[in-house]
Amino acid sequence: MAKQAPRDSGRGAARPAAGYPEYLALERLLGLQVLRSGHEGSDELLFILVHQISELWFKLVLHELDQAGGDFDRDRLPQACKRLSRCEVAFEQLAGIWQMLETMTPSDYRAFRHALGQASGSQSFQFKAIEYALGYRESESPNGQAPPPGPGQDLLARWRARPGVYERFLAALARAGYDLPADGPQRTPAGDDPRIRAILARVYRNPERHWVVYETAEKFMDVEEAIQRWRFRHVRAVERTIGDLPGTGGTSGVGFLTATLNRRFFPEIRAVRSDLYGDGDGE
Ligand code: HEM
Repeated sequence: MAKQAPRDSGRGAARPAAGYPEYLALERLLGLQVLRSGHEGSDELLFILVHQISELWFKLVLHELDQAGGDFDRDRLPQACKRLSRCEVAFEQLAGIWQMLETMTPSDYRAFRHALGQASGSQSFQFKAIEYALGYRESESPNGQAPPPGPGQDLLARWRARPGVYERFLAALARAGYDLPADGPQRTPAGDDPRIRAILARVYRNPERHWVVYETAEKFMDVEEAIQRWRFRHVRAVERTIGDLPGTGGTSGVGFLTATLNRRFFPEIRAVRSDLYGDGDGE
């Protein structure tokens, strides 16, 4: 007789779904696209779907960053790296979504833009939470606008109160014997902490000796790059769609977004690149 698959994975009683639609809550999911323009033939459905899909990937990224933070706390650097890799891939996927959105011309967008009111991506509390989760703390409202009151504010407050994954990585290094400041990164006007930079320079001068730390630092860089590529495609899509107009969220639009292209989440990892050519015995 064929063996039955176990019903309980040992992590609590399983409640198998009746089928695919129920498992994925398809009825609810497919009912979440509310067209407000009253213009059936418009691209509003495409616009809403692209945003909703993006928010779903943001949700996954936050989950992975949460898990990566736990891995760093338990000194499991390779496992944290795997989580960071997934964040990178999620942003690469999202960078590809602009191709779909760019099938919408400026005239197509004009046909329903009024329906947005003041709704804007700058109120995406998940995107802001990702910045906090990575460790970005340069302003109270990193994306120009406070999110409207509601669950978004609670989520943001939670992520802001916790140390970012970068700080948790540095704490793991301190536990492993690297001579790092116990008070965490102290940003200088130049944007980076010379004490952390000095430790990373030792690592980068001799990667073989510090391989796991080196690989993890490069993984952080991969994640930053993937997010910046996403931002770049966003700016170009915005320019192509609304030109020099201000955004629905009240910013200058392209000018505001272009300034965010220089945002650095891990300034010491970025800065160490130029330290490799100074003195150093490659310990
Ligand atoms: C044609 C489509 C789009 C246009 C014209 C557009 C326009 C803008 C503009 C002008 C801003 C600056 C804030 C403002 O004044 O509104 C902004 C911010 C933002 N948008 Fe979009 N956007 C588009 C598509 C998307 C999509 C698909 C997403 C995916 C979730 C997105 C997410 C964001 C985020 C997260 C911000 C804040 C960025 C930051 O502060 O770094 N946008 N968008």
